[in-house]
Amino acid sequence: MKTPGQIIPAQGKLGVLLAGLGAVSTTFIAGVEAIRKGLALPIGSLTQMGTIRLGKRTENRTPLVKDFVPLAGLGDLEFGGWDIFEDDCYEAARHAGVLEASLLEKVRPELSAVKPWTAVFDRQYVKRLDGPNVKKGKSKKDLAEQLRADIRRFKADRGLDRMVMVWCGSTEVFMTQAPVHETIEAFERGLEENDPAIPSSMVYAYAALMEDVPYANGAPNLSVDVPALVDLAQRRRVPVAGKDFKTGQTLIKTVIAPGLKARLLGVTGWYSTNILGNRDGEVLDDPESFKTKEESKKSVLDYILQPNLYPDLYKDLCHVVRINYYPPRGDNKEGWDNIDLVGWLGYDMQLKINFLCRDSILAAPIVLDLALFLDLARRAGLSGIQEWLSFYFKSPMHAPELYPEHDLFIQLMKLKNTLRHLMGEDLITHLGLEYYD
Ligand SMILES: NC(=O)c1ccc[n+]([C@@H]2O[C@H](COP(=O)([O-])OP(=O)(O)OC[C@H]3O[C@@H](n4cnc5c(N)ncnc54)[C@H](O)[C@@H]3O)[C@@H](O)[C@H]2O)c1
Repeated sequence: MKTPGQIIPAQGKLGVLLAGLGAVSTTFIAGVEAIRKGLALPIGSLTQMGTIRLGKRTENRTPLVKDFVPLAGLGDLEFGGWDIFEDDCYEAARHAGVLEASLLEKVRPELSAVKPWTAVFDRQYVKRLDGPNVKKGKSKKDLAEQLRADIRRFKADRGLDRMVMVWCGSTEVFMTQAPVHETIEAFERGLEENDPAIPSSMVYAYAALMEDVPYANGAPNLSVDVPALVDLAQRRRVPVAGKDFKTGQTLIKTVIAPGLKARLLGVTGWYSTNILGNRDGEVLDDPESFKTKEESKKSVLDYILQPNLYPDLYKDLCHVVRINYYPPRGDNKEGWDNIDLVGWLGYDMQLKINFLCRDSILAAPIVLDLALFLDLARRAGLSGIQEWLSFYFKSPMHAPELYPEHDLFIQLMKLKNTLRHLMGEDLITHLGLEYYD
């Protein structure tokens, strides 16, 4: 890690590479363009609207995050990406139906200019999709080389200084770690031999790392979260983060559950169900893709509630997660949570949450923050897993010997303390005894 004075300034243009130009990516790009034109505010983005307290509470030093750490400006971002469909980003955004047509018209030239490059795709890993805009290659290694050529061309054509990549592609089928994922050598052999345990998202992650491009995974599939690719990231000094953007129901879960645990209230049941009608919902209607999502959504409560430490309160917790594909709702997801609680002397209570959210509206600012923070991390000399970015993920990547931290408030403290640490400011512990000495 560099000292504050050694952090490379954010000069020049930052290329944001998006693997998958669907609802989330197009809402992100359209949003940045609208914000650049002064048509809207970057609501939901910590890098743009968040503040950070520095020093003691009596010092009144609370700058905006973007004024405290050297981040790329929104005006310096350039967008490029891949999709299996040929629609440019304007057409894809119209299809996704997240943003109003009147807003899309105002950023139409910028969106139309982002045309997807041919994708690395195999139906074996996303059963509900098929599209024409797909690369051909004799091996996965060859496909990775084609992606690397796309990345280099984008950099040269746009005169970019730096790049980051965010996986916003569909959720792939459930996979667990296989021998080919264990070492860089085994992984590269697997690429050449077309090992079926290497899905498309891993080919993108590999290509990014080989081009020294930081990589974040917005979906729950493994992608960069295997030892071979984490080691490659370390070896090449590139930061990575994942998995699965924390939006909607899981975001609320990681707000409510720490509160219940803080007051030692027991939980016997947590039933979560969703209806969702976008393409993501359609992909998740396939049981194998749903299983990847389910694992990601379900692990959250176990880690927050720690039933091993609090068996009387949480050992019998029944946690059920359902997602139902329901086309009339489009991107406007509706989630219901029923929580069965236990209080003093074992008396039962219930809490019901009905969240009428907009999936991509919640995800777009996360893409922006991840792009800017990963770029900062690279310029600050950080590499490998960026646990301080757990704040943005449902299944945060973590060192093998650690359990993941899911509590949103601990995640936020970790993120802000990391920024303070990078900039040589005191960490904030909230002890505060000095105010009463
Ligand atoms: N929106 C949210 O709140 C949210 C939250 C967490 C995770 N995610 C995940 O983010 C991802 C994107 O979500 P979305 O709502 O934009 O979905 P979407 O279906 O609208 O977009 C995904 C796009 O990826 C493309 N794609 C699939 N495989 C590809 C490949 N190998 N290469 C290039 N393109 C590929 C698809 O054609 C599609 O256009 C999904 O995996 C989703 O599960 C979304």
